[in-house]
Amino acid sequence: MASSIENAEASKDVDLKPCDHQVGGHFSSGKHAGTFVDSSGKFYKVFQDDIRSAREASIYEIIFNDSDDAEVRKEDIVALRPFVSKYFGIVVNGDLKMLALEDTCKAYKKPCVLDAKMGLTTIYEWADEKYKAKNANKDRDTTQSKLGFRVTGFKVWQAEKGEYFVADRNYGKELTPQTMGAAFTKFGTNGLLSPRDVYCGPQGAVAQIRSLKAWFETQQSLLFFAASVLIVYEGAATRAEDANVAIRFIDFAHTFPSKGKRDDNVLRGITVLVDMLQSVGEGDAN
Ligand SMILES: Nc1ncnc2c1ncn2[C@@H]1O[C@H](COP(=O)(O)OP(=O)(O)O)[C@@H](O)[C@H]1O
Ligand SMILES: [Mg+2]
Repeated sequence: MASSIENAEASKDVDLKPCDHQVGGHFSSGKHAGTFVDSSGKFYKVFQDDIRSAREASIYEIIFNDSDDAEVRKEDIVALRPFVSKYFGIVVNGDLKMLALEDTCKAYKKPCVLDAKMGLTTIYEWADEKYKAKNANKDRDTTQSKLGFRVTGFKVWQAEKGEYFVADRNYGKELTPQTMGAAFTKFGTNGLLSPRDVYCGPQGAVAQIRSLKAWFETQQSLLFFAASVLIVYEGAATRAEDANVAIRFIDFAHTFPSKGKRDDNVLRGITVLVDMLQSVGEGDAN
């Protein structure tokens, strides 16, 4: 079971460095980076505000808690674990309060990373007005409300140039249903691997996201707003079998027990996302 480490002493010797592989979410505040990693393979997400971060921590506690929780179904939570980064509690380091997670990019030489924020809407009735106002426009003006997801950013290693192509927040905002396929082609091409190598096959992104979709079809425990599917693969790979594709479901700052309901908002987005990745992988779209 995961435990909260609200202990400055415990984290004094944490060797934090800003995470080089963050593609979406809150970046630097001006004072410090938004995310860090350490040499032991942990990823740290700095608290943005106490309510959201405490909520995210409590969702991780629910997911990794082995005791019965009246709010969620045990079988749902256990089946979700393979899609979620391991959780190591809350760590305090100087002024910084952070969630400590497993660093999904740790095992990669040149991680290629894409963040797809899921759901036809990121807004929930009980959200505060500021959040609603900020996100209503983003949902409307991006592919969020049309496809049920939007790409908040990605980075892909370009072997022949020896550098990353980075698609930032603005690149993601400007994507349309018509240009999304080309963006997925770009992300799935490191110059040596093709989108087929990354998306297709038994270990590819499509097969793994279909498993996550199957979870969403039956689970009745959680509602996720503004959570993301993170796709990671090895940019240094020269052969399909070394692509090492990983899928994680991340960002639970706006996640709530669903009281017996399915999350059709995210399920719809996952269905569209996985079908698009499949057709890009099979060469039907670009
Ligand atoms: N466990 C993880 N391992 C590696 N990178 C991660 C992990 N979780 C998140 N990230 C990176 O950090 C970014 C922001 O994370 P996220 O949880 O979505 O934060 P925010 O609440 O700021 O949106 C993601 O787009 C991804 O690039
Ligand atoms: Mg996010």
